[in-house]
Amino acid sequence: MITPVILCGGSGTRLWPLSRKSYPKQFVPLVGENTLFQASALRLCDEGFAPPLVLTNSDFRFIVAEQLTEIGIDPGAILIEPEGRNTAPAVLAAALWLEKSDPDGLMLVAPSDHVVPDIEAFRAATLAGAEAARAGQLVTFGIKPTHPETGYGYLELAEDPQDFSAQPLALRRFVEKPDAARAEEMVQAGMYLWNAGIFLFSVKSILAAFRAHAPDLIAPVQAAVDQGKPDLGFLRLAPDPWAKAADISIDYAVMEKADNLSVVPFAAGWSDLGGWDAVWREGNPDARGVVTSDHATALDCDNTLLRSEDGALEMVGIGLQNIIAIAMPDAVLVADMSRAQDVKLAVAALKEKH
Ligand code: GDD
Ligand code: MG
Repeated sequence: MITPVILCGGSGTRLWPLSRKSYPKQFVPLVGENTLFQASALRLCDEGFAPPLVLTNSDFRFIVAEQLTEIGIDPGAILIEPEGRNTAPAVLAAALWLEKSDPDGLMLVAPSDHVVPDIEAFRAATLAGAEAARAGQLVTFGIKPTHPETGYGYLELAEDPQDFSAQPLALRRFVEKPDAARAEEMVQAGMYLWNAGIFLFSVKSILAAFRAHAPDLIAPVQAAVDQGKPDLGFLRLAPDPWAKAADISIDYAVMEKADNLSVVPFAAGWSDLGGWDAVWREGNPDARGVVTSDHATALDCDNTLLRSEDGALEMVGIGLQNIIAIAMPDAVLVADMSRAQDVKLAVAALKEKH
């Protein structure tokens, strides 16, 4: 059985002001009618998959439960992290939890904030990786790069692929978030895919990988799981040991160090809505590259995203180029499209100020 492990503890600061600390982007219907989190859960609700295990933090636990109820999904369990320690402790907690009930099972680690329009292709890719995962590989999913993005991990193929159909290929290396020059080199070289941030492995092999590459995480996370307390249908991990786990992502803690990596190429459309530029790209820009929401109007603009969210005022842009403008009832962002990744700086600056 494959248990989907949905990570939804991130705060999505690059999509401020729509995404907030108290209500981050995965819980907002950014594209389509379901929220990104609901869409992630629905993608993995199928034959061959167990009910999902969801990991989130205390602030979001009721949002998670309510959004699952809305779409009729009964989770296997919801684990609550006393504080966000990034994805490595979260994935390890999931593996240690599953070890108790399904030690021979597979887990599919999925982010909660991506857009994957072709659900059938996604499930097929997942199942294509299952055999390699059962054989002990840590299976990643690879996207053909379109630009030298620095916000992603890069997967170096061991051999130039003859065939990009969704079959697992061996990987030489995993490089997390390179600088711009390195990203440019890798895109030019043609032997690299972007890491989609989705992973498939057996409970046994990911635990072995943590023991080999991040052994210091094991004791605190194991104690946090073992001493966890049931709380209104959630399992609250024990705060004291949890606080001792290093704050690190699975990409740095395990993937960059592992040598048993495979990749299933995924060509059917994927976006990590990692910034307003990605939301603009996914929003079907018109011939001049303009995307507007209901209460926004663009006159003679190019390559521009204008969104006025519920409760905000009417917005009009005239003669704009490469602009992002987002209005909320209590905050407005105006930025150059090329600075989309810097929106997280706005959040840091405001935190300092208030
Ligand atoms: N439960 C939990 N706890 N979830 C978390 C935490 C945490 O502390 N931190 C992040 N998450 C969730 C986020 O909500 C998101 O769904 C997922 O884990 C990935 O975290 P991000 O913070 O969005 O990672 P990233 O986008 O910088 O990088 C990852 O994804 C890229 C593709 O989108 C890496 O895997 C990259 O290699 C990859 O290219
Ligand atoms: Mg992300």
